[in-house]
Amino acid sequence: MKSRLLFLGPPGAGKGTQAKLLCQENDLLHLSTGDLLRSEVLEGTKLGKEAERVMNRGELVSDELVLSLVEKKLTGQTKGWLLDGFPRNLPQAESLEPLLEKIHQPIEAVILITINNEILVKRLLSRGRDDDNENVIRNRLKVYRDQTTPLIDHYSSQELLKTVEGDEEIDVVAFQIREALK
Ligand code: AP5
Repeated sequence: MKSRLLFLGPPGAGKGTQAKLLCQENDLLHLSTGDLLRSEVLEGTKLGKEAERVMNRGELVSDELVLSLVEKKLTGQTKGWLLDGFPRNLPQAESLEPLLEKIHQPIEAVILITINNEILVKRLLSRGRDDDNENVIRNRLKVYRDQTTPLIDHYSSQELLKTVEGDEEIDVVAFQIREALK
């Protein structure tokens, strides 16, 4: 199975849910920039305080900040990894490339989880994280559409992109992902 992976998809598509399952099964490092930022917020670090304001508006935290978090985790990494929620825009994707070249670990596949916006909003409202209220969710969807969707063409042109349908039961989505990574 391919083991250097990116998960792309709108908020609530199931990236985190599926990433946890796949990483547990295959002993991959699950690197979620959202989770890393939320731990900084919980610990009340300077970085966390800066990030919290931005996250609660549904905007993207600065590229430098997330890139430094990812770089720390990937450098010296010997096992496979799954980047969940990163990169989030073209500048992040372009900064990731030299880092991966330096460590000789190119991306092997990008999984795009697609799903209808109304289902996403319902899912996120019932989860109820700090950034899961209707206005912020709508803004996260807009940010996804404007800043993250260009990555679909970017990875498609590199023949790395595999698309799975996220509006299915969790185990059905998981099955589609495993098939795509064979
Ligand atoms: P992040 O944590 O990455 O949030 P997100 O992309 O908005 O994604 P979510 O966690 O909301 O959704 P998910 O696709 O992981 O779905 P999940 O599995 O949780 O980012 C949060 C913020 O951090 C950003 O807005 C930004 O401010 C900042 N940030 C993060 N990365 C950044 C970066 N690279 N650059 C700059 N800023 C960054 O599922 C959602 C819900 O649905 C759960 O309740 C789950 O149980 C349920 N569910 C999942 N799958 C199914 C299913 N198949 N059927 C029914 N329910 C399901």
